[in-house]
Amino acid sequence: MEVRAMGGACGASVTGVDLTRPLSDAAIADIREAWLTHHVLAFPDQRMSDDDMERFTLYFGPFGDDPFIAPIPGRDHVIAVKRAADERAPVFAESWHTDWSFQETPPAGTCLFGIAIPPSGGDTLFANQHLALARMPDALRRKLEGKTAIHSARIPYAREGVYGEGDREKRSMDIRPSDDALTMEHRHPIIRRHPETGREAIFGCAGYIVGIEGMGDMESMALLGALYQWQTRDEFQYRHKWRRNMLVMWDNRSVLHMATGGYDGHARLLHRTTIGATIGARG
Ligand code: SIN
Repeated sequence: MEVRAMGGACGASVTGVDLTRPLSDAAIADIREAWLTHHVLAFPDQRMSDDDMERFTLYFGPFGDDPFIAPIPGRDHVIAVKRAADERAPVFAESWHTDWSFQETPPAGTCLFGIAIPPSGGDTLFANQHLALARMPDALRRKLEGKTAIHSARIPYAREGVYGEGDREKRSMDIRPSDDALTMEHRHPIIRRHPETGREAIFGCAGYIVGIEGMGDMESMALLGALYQWQTRDEFQYRHKWRRNMLVMWDNRSVLHMATGGYDGHARLLHRTTIGATIGARG
């Protein structure tokens, strides 16, 4: 197996391993180590089925719990991230986030497999939150130190939300907005240690984060805005270009990510699983 860093803020390409076959314990350990080191791993040229994808996911933890998006027919843990060639709905997930951070125990990782990839556009951006913290100006860090963020599902997934009832009919993805989003809320430290490596990182960003404990709306929005501007800077980013039959796995505890558009007139389809967390974050 060969692991080659992409040369940017994070990300590595992994070749010399066949993910359509069961992996040895040694290969799984090598992939885990590369994942914790590079945060985003891309495995090109893997002709994986959904069975292969599920088996691969379960090497790294249990399945995560994926609310608000219906799984594909016949599967409980695979969702389709898709956009039709003639679709006019805004691109799904085209804003920075870390997956399901409004959960008490958000998923450790996410796997995404490219099935239909447009000839250009549709890249996924990642922002390394260890690096963003390490290079953060002291003045900003002092304001964030010891603060706890309130993460909520309501902005995207409430009935009135971004992916609410008004969005459903123009979108091919099977998103299920619900009143549950109004109460699905959890708190996490803004600066926290990665549960496996112990390295400090920023966890989450404005969007799912709707406030900071003990601060008024105006004050917390100002601080979250300053944090967002910092943590998503170009210098912390890796732009991932997809190919068909490529699997990407990322570490939600280390990176933010977002989808990008620019492929109107072309279909895009990827299958996604999440890796549930087995070890809680250290505060
Ligand atoms: C996601 O956030 O799960 C989707 C990313 C993408 O479509 O590039």
